[in-house]
Amino acid sequence: MAKVPNVVTPIPGPKSQALIDQRSELVPPGVYLVQPVSIAASKGCILTDVDGNTLLDFTSGIGVTSLGHCVDEIVETISDQAGKLIHSCIHVANYEPYVTLAKRLTEITPGGFKKRALMLNSGSEAVENAVKIVRQSTGRKNILSFENSFHGRTYMALTLTGKWDPYKVGLEPFVPGVYFTPFPYSYRCPWGTDDKEECGKAAIHHIEKNIFKTQVDPGTVGAVITEPVQGEGGFIDPPKDFLPMLKELCEEHGIMLIDDEVQTGFGRTGKMWAIEHYGVEPDLMTMAKAIASGLPLSAVVARDDLMKDIYPGSLGGTFGGNPVACSTALKVIEIIKREKIVDKAAKLGKKLRKRLDEFHSKYEPIGEVRGLGPMLAMEFVKDRKSKKPDPETSSAVMKECLKNGLMTLKAGLYNNAIRLHPPLTIEDEHLETGLGILEKAIKKHA
Ligand SMILES: Cc1ncc(COP(=O)(O)O)c(C=O)c1O
Repeated sequence: MAKVPNVVTPIPGPKSQALIDQRSELVPPGVYLVQPVSIAASKGCILTDVDGNTLLDFTSGIGVTSLGHCVDEIVETISDQAGKLIHSCIHVANYEPYVTLAKRLTEITPGGFKKRALMLNSGSEAVENAVKIVRQSTGRKNILSFENSFHGRTYMALTLTGKWDPYKVGLEPFVPGVYFTPFPYSYRCPWGTDDKEECGKAAIHHIEKNIFKTQVDPGTVGAVITEPVQGEGGFIDPPKDFLPMLKELCEEHGIMLIDDEVQTGFGRTGKMWAIEHYGVEPDLMTMAKAIASGLPLSAVVARDDLMKDIYPGSLGGTFGGNPVACSTALKVIEIIKREKIVDKAAKLGKKLRKRLDEFHSKYEPIGEVRGLGPMLAMEFVKDRKSKKPDPETSSAVMKECLKNGLMTLKAGLYNNAIRLHPPLTIEDEHLETGLGILEKAIKKHA
């Protein structure tokens, strides 16, 4: 096996830097850049930059290339479909990959009830459309979302996002009819308890006794939207009973539960859907990222009774559910099933957890290791007692990783978490190499 990573220039190398300089002149800085490197090619879990450095990718382009980069079968599918039909627009003329994907998605999502699916281009668009479906089908206009959540950058999705800086800075006014309640972020429980389950109970109690009494009449709330594990918020997995209690509360008030699986879906947490860890069947689900191995595609899957009477023309778009993207998604689902990727992800999760727990026991700045399956993050703190966030150390660790050829991502309300998004198909040797680089970087800055 070729040496991976293989760092032959400082990063960014001269060609990477020249491209980044051009980007700085041509692209608004709002399109942020985490890693100062320009990529030319990719395969499996390896990225090759324009200077010829090979880097280990523990980002998967934010959880997108979960099967690895440029998988041969995926490339063939894209090329075959592109040779047959690239576009007709689903509103102009029907085509088979869209309909077959709708069928597959309704089959592989939780809930034995009849469902329908709608395809779009991005996670944000899926969130927009889930809300449109709820508002039109239930007639209820208000939506409850969680603090520290991320649902996207289009206006409704952004409104629903529970983190101000950087997403919402200067972008007011937002969409009316959105309310927020704290998420049970148990490491920093808003209700002051150190007990994870108690934190979950307090979060439900707060909705019932505070939000529904002082902020909004539950009879006007169409949906509660939540990520089953908060992604951008720092991989915060809620207490075990929280989502079942939330669903129960929703049912009591006739409120729909929107499960935003954009980041958690397609095996990322060691189950096909993160919500399966909690035994909850949501009314609507949004999904994107890993759905089509890097092609822009997203979907809303929802109960048939919510979808069947949606007014013709009020959903969709020119590119939503493009034939090439839909064919690719069908191939992704086929590979996940055939190669038992979900089982592999669960095993990967155990290995990763063991190593990160070891890091936690050795290195003081790691305040907490958390997440589900292989979707794991480490939150960095100045000291474990005060839990004061330490984004400087997490950034320094990430920089050191990149210097040594490992790409990682940050997350969290305080930008002090390092999250790991390796391909679910990563080989042991690459995993070990990457973790070795990560440990050395933590050790250097601990
Ligand atoms: C949970 C969740 N919802 C929605 C989105 C928005 O997806 P996109 O960036 O494809 O619009 C994201 C993106 O990170 C996400 O993590």
